[in-house]
Amino acid sequence: MTHSNQQPSYDFIVLGSGIAGLTFALKAAQQGRVAIITKKHKAESNTNYAQGGIAAVTSQEDSFEMHIKDTCDAGAGLCNEDVVRTIISEGPDRIHELMELGMRFSEREIPNSGGEKELDLGKEGGHSKRRILHCKDVTGREIERALLHAIAMNPNIEVLENHFAIDLITSNKLGLSGNNKCLGAYVLDSKTHRIQTFRAPVVLLATGGCGKVYLYTTNPDIATGDGVAMAYRAGVPIANMEFVQFHPTCLYHPKAKTFLISEALRGEGGILKNLDGASFMEKAHDLASLAPRDVVARAIDSEMKRTGADHVNLDITHKAAPFTMNRFPNIYQTCMQYGIDITKEAIPVVPAAHYQCGGVMTTIDGETNIEGLFAVGEVSCTGLHGANRLASNSLLEALVCSHRAIERISNLKKEGALNHYDAKLPHWESGGAQDPDELVVISHNWDEIRRMMWDYVGIVRTNKRLLRARKRIANLKEEIHEFYWNFVLTPDLLELRNLAIVSSLIIESALKRQESRGLHYNLNYPQSSQSWQQKDTIIEPGSLEH
Ligand code: FAD
Ligand code: SIN
Repeated sequence: MTHSNQQPSYDFIVLGSGIAGLTFALKAAQQGRVAIITKKHKAESNTNYAQGGIAAVTSQEDSFEMHIKDTCDAGAGLCNEDVVRTIISEGPDRIHELMELGMRFSEREIPNSGGEKELDLGKEGGHSKRRILHCKDVTGREIERALLHAIAMNPNIEVLENHFAIDLITSNKLGLSGNNKCLGAYVLDSKTHRIQTFRAPVVLLATGGCGKVYLYTTNPDIATGDGVAMAYRAGVPIANMEFVQFHPTCLYHPKAKTFLISEALRGEGGILKNLDGASFMEKAHDLASLAPRDVVARAIDSEMKRTGADHVNLDITHKAAPFTMNRFPNIYQTCMQYGIDITKEAIPVVPAAHYQCGGVMTTIDGETNIEGLFAVGEVSCTGLHGANRLASNSLLEALVCSHRAIERISNLKKEGALNHYDAKLPHWESGGAQDPDELVVISHNWDEIRRMMWDYVGIVRTNKRLLRARKRIANLKEEIHEFYWNFVLTPDLLELRNLAIVSSLIIESALKRQESRGLHYNLNYPQSSQSWQQKDTIIEPGSLEH
């Protein structure tokens, strides 16, 4: 790192320390100095909680064509087939690299081989073959361990924990002429409360998704859509935000805040049943409990509404207890803590917001419309997922696209682009900031947004509810705008502001798409429409106020 007038300067700034940010950082460190800025502990990310695994073609019985078809079928006509083909066919090489870094995938003994082993492949909804590489049911934790270990050994990488990226610094915002360029980011040190100006000719947004926009989510607290909000404010178009994936099976227990019951459990035979013990998925889809997620989440929602129940059950008691305990140790132990023995009783589950299929519009190389600004992972929208992500394709996308982003950056540098900007950048202006004596208002607005989004912009939507949500969010945004300029900035206030912007983007995208497709289901337009086929929903910068 060098300091220009107390403005830390690097070759690369990486915002986020999940799979996308860490993979990119390790490759970027071969070309220069890297700062990883991450708002909490370095392992705290959606990645860390991934259970099912990474989808990739590694078996003789599988093929790229089959994985491509499954991805496009789940994506309901909206996937970009070139992007799908490239990501799927480059997946195995990237997985190999991850294994070389020390990632340990689960293995199984090959039958009648005298003890020889092969990768154990799991199955999840929408996949026609077993193709999910996993580490039991704690795949994400093992990915973070392996990547963070490699990062710790790399002298070119500095990890700044408890550093919250507030906003990107762009040449247009500074009134400079020419192409819009990203020059760095303003970052709040949550421990010292100091706001610093970080500089770099390349900034990677790897800030993950926005599950916390909804009252019920499988996501940890970091998932507040900061990257999408920052990119939007900086001038990047945002695409397909109406496609919020609700995972069908989140543990339903008053003391469990967010705990996923992996789809892999259904892949190993788990069956969804109503509270009378009747299996209900056969009516909804040929693949029954292993249908694509949008279908399963809607079927559960409809079963709960039909019966008045507050959850359904997921039953794996017919499998041998040692198998279940060995294959799903984390799920087994966590449920046990809540008094549920999954080898003897069904697991109470409900759908919850899980994954953001839309996001910052990028090429498959993570490139945005702002020079030097890249986005990879859940924050981005490359065209892979279309209207509904196929299970376990997101870790794959992050691996492939972070590699491609670095290759693209090398080529741009060879062409003479992405140079350091030498002049001093303006410091953050805190305006007339004062201590927040109304913290309760911030937490009230947080709760209100999350409940409103759950009630009005959830699994099943209507125009009336979406319009009501639009009205509510406009009022809330006005209030938040006032706090923002009057109060000392805290992570809570910054997240609230970002949640409000992301909610607006979801609502506006949902209102734009006048049809039902994949994860977006609107009772006023229950069918898919030809005129929306292959059409992304794009919100241009500046079209929402604040
Ligand atoms: P993340 O891993 O979410 O990392 C984002 C990082 O950005 C975090 O470090 C965060 O602290 C940081 N950050 C955010 N905002 C800021 C800011 N303002 N300033 C500084 N830092 C910031 N996908 C699969 O493919 N397979 C699975 O099995 C699977 N299971 C899942 C299980 C669960 C419970 C969840 C929640 C998701 C699962 N997913 C799975 C989805 C997948 O985990 C995520 O899409 C993926 O990990 C996203 O990686 P990422 O690097 O883009 O973001
Ligand atoms: C799961 O394990 O069910 C999550 C998989 C995913 O979200 O891709």
